[in-house]
Amino acid sequence: MIHKILDKNNQEEVTSLFTSVFTSSEGEKEGRLIGILASKLSSGTDNEEIICFGTYEEGSIIGAIFFTSLRFNQDIQVYMLAPVAVSTKHQGKGVGQALINYGLNELKNRSVAVAITYGDPSFYSKVGFQALSENVIQAPLKLSMPEGWLGQSLTEEPIPTINERPTCVKEFDDPVYW
Ligand SMILES: CC(C)(COP(=O)(O)OP(=O)(O)OC[C@H]1O[C@@H](n2cnc3c(N)ncnc32)[C@H](O)[C@@H]1OP(=O)(O)O)[C@@H](O)C(=O)NCCC(=O)NCCS
Repeated sequence: MIHKILDKNNQEEVTSLFTSVFTSSEGEKEGRLIGILASKLSSGTDNEEIICFGTYEEGSIIGAIFFTSLRFNQDIQVYMLAPVAVSTKHQGKGVGQALINYGLNELKNRSVAVAITYGDPSFYSKVGFQALSENVIQAPLKLSMPEGWLGQSLTEEPIPTINERPTCVKEFDDPVYW
């Protein structure tokens, strides 16, 4: 199993991974929605505002993850982890946690202060995320499941309180994802 930083050239395999994984786990409609999101994120991947990492086994992609920047007026680097997918066949074997930990480590090396995600606390708590109050860091759009707003500090310091609403990358700027 190897991890790699991906770019626009990986768009096709990344899109097909997200479409098939989310179709299997959430149904056809969600599969299509997340497939389109992954395709747009992939074509916008610049390794700065949109970062994509992949896991490969025997030359095939078996996992992928996106981190996108949440922008504030003040000088702090915050990234949001979403979405992540591990191929159906390879789920439940530690691939997802290894890929997320690889990604978080890359962000630490880039001096990112905070990682945020929006999802199932029981899974994301395994890789260091805890419930995050919007009194500390607000979501860019209104959350339909505030209990899924999660964060972790990537420094020695606790997550700082930021008194402004961030903007997300344009690919996520749609209430359907929130
Ligand atoms: C969620 C996902 C990325 C996890 O990757 P994975 O390689 O299967 O996970 P790992 O093997 O590293 O970790 C498995 C652990 O997470 C838990 N887990 C896996 N998927 C979970 C989910 N959807 N919800 C809650 N817990 C989950 C398992 O119970 C397991 O716990 P255990 O180690 O205590 O038994 C993968 O299952 C997946 O792609 N699922 C479908 C798409 C999805 O839901 N993506 C996340 C939302 S963006």
